[in-house]
Amino acid sequence: MKKDDTKLDHLFPTFKDARKRTKSEVENIEFELDPKYLNLGNGKKYLIQTYGCQANEADSEVMAGILERIGFTKASNPEDSDLIILNTCAIRENAENRIWGEIGRLSHYQKTNPNLIIGLAGCMPQEPDVVERILKKQHAVGLVFGTHNIHKLPEYIYDAYLSKERVIQVYSKEGEIIENLPKIRNHQFKAWVNIMYGCDEFCTYCIVPYTRGKERSRLPEDVILEVEELVKAGYQEVTLLGQNVNAYGKDFKELDYTLGDLLNDLDKTGISRIRFTTSHPRDLDLKTILAMKELKSVMPHLHLPVQSGSDEVLRRMNRRYTKEMYMEKVNLLKEHVKGISITTDIIVGFPNESDQDFEDTLDLVREAKFEGAYTFIYSKRKGTPAAIFEDDTPADVKKKRLLKLNELINAGFKEGNQRFLDEVVEVLVDGPSEKDEAVLAGYTPHNKLINFKGSKSLIGKIVKVKVTKALTWSLQGKLYSNEI
Ligand code: 5AD
Ligand code: SF4
Repeated sequence: MKKDDTKLDHLFPTFKDARKRTKSEVENIEFELDPKYLNLGNGKKYLIQTYGCQANEADSEVMAGILERIGFTKASNPEDSDLIILNTCAIRENAENRIWGEIGRLSHYQKTNPNLIIGLAGCMPQEPDVVERILKKQHAVGLVFGTHNIHKLPEYIYDAYLSKERVIQVYSKEGEIIENLPKIRNHQFKAWVNIMYGCDEFCTYCIVPYTRGKERSRLPEDVILEVEELVKAGYQEVTLLGQNVNAYGKDFKELDYTLGDLLNDLDKTGISRIRFTTSHPRDLDLKTILAMKELKSVMPHLHLPVQSGSDEVLRRMNRRYTKEMYMEKVNLLKEHVKGISITTDIIVGFPNESDQDFEDTLDLVREAKFEGAYTFIYSKRKGTPAAIFEDDTPADVKKKRLLKLNELINAGFKEGNQRFLDEVVEVLVDGPSEKDEAVLAGYTPHNKLINFKGSKSLIGKIVKVKVTKALTWSLQGKLYSNEI
C-alpha cells in the first residue's frame, strides 16, 4: 500500500482522553450485522494470532466469530490467508518488539499475495506512538483497530477491500457494552466469559487502564444467560474474565450486586467448574471468599497478584495495600477455603527498588507459600506515571533478582504439587498431553496440570485420578475412576 492511502477517521488515540473517567452510565447494546456485509468474506481466509492475556484470547474468539459470520473461513497457514490479524499486547516492551518482528516476517507473504491484508488489533494500537509508527514506517499494515471497536470489524473490512485504502480506526475512549457478539470458541468444554471490561486501578507501571478504558460490568442476566447456554452446549468449566473481577458490579447505579452474588447465581446454572481472574487484593471481599468456600463449583485456586512485598514499592506502584493487608487476605482465604492454592504476579526492578525492598518480596513469597507465579522485570511504559520515576538499579542487578525470585517460586510450585502425592484428585481432561499423544492431560480443581494414561473418550469429562508422582511443573497419575 502507498504511504498516503489511509482512511484517517479516528487517527490518534490519546492517553489524555483514555485516562478520563466519567460517571456516565454505559449502555448495553446488541450486536447487529448490516446485511450488506454478509458475504464480504466469501472465498476468503483469515488467521488470527493472539498475544498476551485472556482478555485478548476472548477478543480473538469474537473476531473469529464476526469474520465467519461475514463469510470468511479459517486459514491453516499465512500463505493461504487473505487477512491476518495480530491481536496484540502492550504490557511490556518485549511483547511489542515481538510484534514488530512478526509484521516484518508476515509482510513477505504480500509479495506472493498482494491482496493479503495484515491487521493490527488489541492493546498496541491504543498507544499513540504505535499508530504513528504504523503511519510513518509500517506500510505492510493495512488495517488497524483497537480494543473498543471490535464489533465494527465488518465495516472496516468493507472499507479496506472497497476503497483499497489503509483503515485506521482507534478510539481513545471505551463505548457501549456490546452483547450477543458472535464467537468461535477455541475450546469445546472450557470457556472464557467476560464479566467486565476495563480497569480503574491505575497502578503506576501499568498501561491497561489506558488501553482498555474504564471499568464496565456486564449485566448479571447477560452473564448468567451466556453460562446457561454454555451448560446446554456441554461446557464443563467457565473462567470469568476482567482486569479486576473483584470490582464487578461497582459501576451499577441501581443494583447492589457484586462478584460474590454472581458466583452464587452462576453455581445454580449447573456448570461444573467456575474460575475467575484477575483479582485485585484490595477489592477481594468476604462474600467472594465465602462463595469459594461454600460453592462446590467455584474452584479452590486464586490468582492474586501481589506485585511486591515492600510497602514502599507498593505505595509507589499505587497498589493501595501494604504487605500486611495482603497477608490478611491470604490468611482469610486459607482459613475459609481449606487447601486453597494461591498464585501471584510479581514485578522486580520497579524504579529504585532497593535490596531491602527485594528482600521484603522474598519474605512475602515465603510467608504466603505461593504455588506458582508469573514474574517480570519492570518494563517502562511511556505515558504511565512510573515512566518518569527515577531508577538507579542496574539492569544486571534486576536480572539477578529475577533469577533468585524464580528459584523460590519454583520451589513453591513443587511443594504445591507434592502435597497431592497419593491423593485422588478430580481432573477435567483437556486432551492428549503436549509431549506424548498416548498420555492425557488435564487440570485439577487447584489448577495443577496432571498427566495420566487413559482413553481419548475421556476428553472433556471430569474423572478421578490417583497422583503417583509430583514434579515441579506437573503431576503424574493413574486413572482411578471414570466418574466422580
Ligand atoms: N512491567 C512489568 N510487568 C508489568 N505488569 C503490568 N505492567 C507491567 C510493566 N510495566 C505485570 C503485572 C501484572 C501482569 C499482568 O503483568 O505483574 O499483574
Ligand atoms: Fe494494570 Fe493494576 Fe489494572 Fe491490573 S489492576 S490491569 S496491574 S492497572
